[in-house]
Amino acid sequence: MSILSLKNITLVKGEKTILHDITLDIWEGYVHAVVGPNGAGKSSLAAVIMGLSGFRDITGDILFENRSIVSLSVDARARLGITLAWQEPARFEGISVFEYIRFSAKRKTLEDVRKALQLLGLDPDRYARRKVDQTLSGGERKRVELAAIAAMEPKLVLLDEPDSGVDIEAVERIFAMIQALKEKGTTVVLITHSAEVLKQADHAFLLCNGSLVRKGETARILPYFARECYPCVHPNAPVLKEVEAV
Ligand SMILES: Nc1ncnc2c1ncn2[C@@H]1O[C@H](COP(=O)(O)OP(=O)(O)O)[C@@H](O)[C@H]1O
Ligand SMILES: [Mg+2]
Repeated sequence: MSILSLKNITLVKGEKTILHDITLDIWEGYVHAVVGPNGAGKSSLAAVIMGLSGFRDITGDILFENRSIVSLSVDARARLGITLAWQEPARFEGISVFEYIRFSAKRKTLEDVRKALQLLGLDPDRYARRKVDQTLSGGERKRVELAAIAAMEPKLVLLDEPDSGVDIEAVERIFAMIQALKEKGTTVVLITHSAEVLKQADHAFLLCNGSLVRKGETARILPYFARECYPCVHPNAPVLKEVEAV
């Protein structure tokens, strides 16, 4: 069953068509990926689903649990159980990591907050009392934000470039968090231009120049990174592998 359906979504800004007639279904309980080169329209698609300002003037329809959400505000969509983690993690200057996670957590016990931090590889004894401010590195902030999402257990989460700005060890933690969310029944949409992140998904969509050019099981989309498939003519598409002269 699909938890989210996009029906003929088109987004135009000025002269430019950023998303062109996108129709797709996000099946409940799976990890999906939206892949494509930089500038393909992936983040715009997430912004449209979330209903962010500047991304509300669209044509087409968005159904969440079979109900149209296009007229709903960001907050109303969040209350339905949709959440978005931005490429650049948010800053909530001043509040503690503990309060920040507890605020969005489904169960607000100390134990649940500690578990969420541990899932992201952040020692609760070291991090819970820290402030969410510039004393945390970008990678730490990102992990704190993802810990908050893990504790929230939303119905649908959109993770925009979840590996950006974090080190390899943190990437492994983030992958574990994605699988933990799936086990708890959250539907996950990973937005990425990385093959490693794509491999975390069950199913994927390939965007090029604002259009959906291919969809299917992850294995069907992976060859995109070796440029061994389909007509993605975006200028930022992966570089063609050089063929040795005979
Ligand atoms: N606020 C905006 N106004 C005008 N153009 C935008 C805006 N946001 C994004 N774009 C353009 O939309 C296209 C898709 O961008 P984006 O969704 O960020 O791609 P991706 O996330 O795949 O890298 C790009 O050409 C970008 O320049
Ligand atoms: Mg983007």
